Amino acid sequence: MMFDSPHSALTHFGSGFAIAALPQQVVSDLRTDHAGETGAVCIYRGVLRFSPDPELRAFAQRHLATEQAHLLLVESWLPAKQRSHLLPVWRLAGFLTGALPALFGPRAVYATIEAVETFVHQHYDEQVRRLAAFPALATLRQTLLNCQGDEAAHRNEAAAARGPGQPSVLLRAWCWMVDVGSKGAVTLSRHL
Ligand SMILES: [Fe+2]
Ligand SMILES: [Fe+2]
Repeated sequence: MMFDSPHSALTHFGSGFAIAALPQQVVSDLRTDHAGETGAVCIYRGVLRFSPDPELRAFAQRHLATEQAHLLLVESWLPAKQRSHLLPVWRLAGFLTGALPALFGPRAVYATIEAVETFVHQHYDEQVRRLAAFPALATLRQTLLNCQGDEAAHRNEAAAARGPGQPSVLLRAWCWMVDVGSKGAVTLSRHL
């Protein structure tokens, strides 16, 4: 479920309080989240740039709003100087990840989103498990759990919209590339 009011969370969790208490590993994790949510926003912009399909456009508009809320939440925890130096790369990669399948039709986009969100859900899961070791960061952990819930809903909605039946070999190869690229982006943005 999308957050009703990310701004109330921003006010409540104020970044000044948050960053002072964050261990370096948590900062690195948040840098990957910020890179990922930046890319996610651009994925839907890529879809909306090229797809004429009304149902897909409505899907992309809804998801875009949620990803923008996620990005604001992560930004409330991660100061600008801690963010990835490669944000222009993540924006372009995200845009292409949405734009390219949009040229092939809705099913390709839904399969792509299913692949991306399957990866993102797993990524948040690992981070939430690590955060269990930091009871003082329970509010951050809950924030990420809420994001994870949204990503699971996105994944499930995309899977349902894709419909039954095995995707083509080409589409499966593309989704494999998206998965590998997402893993690489997380590794790089952890350090850069
Ligand atoms: Fe997200
Ligand atoms: Fe998402």
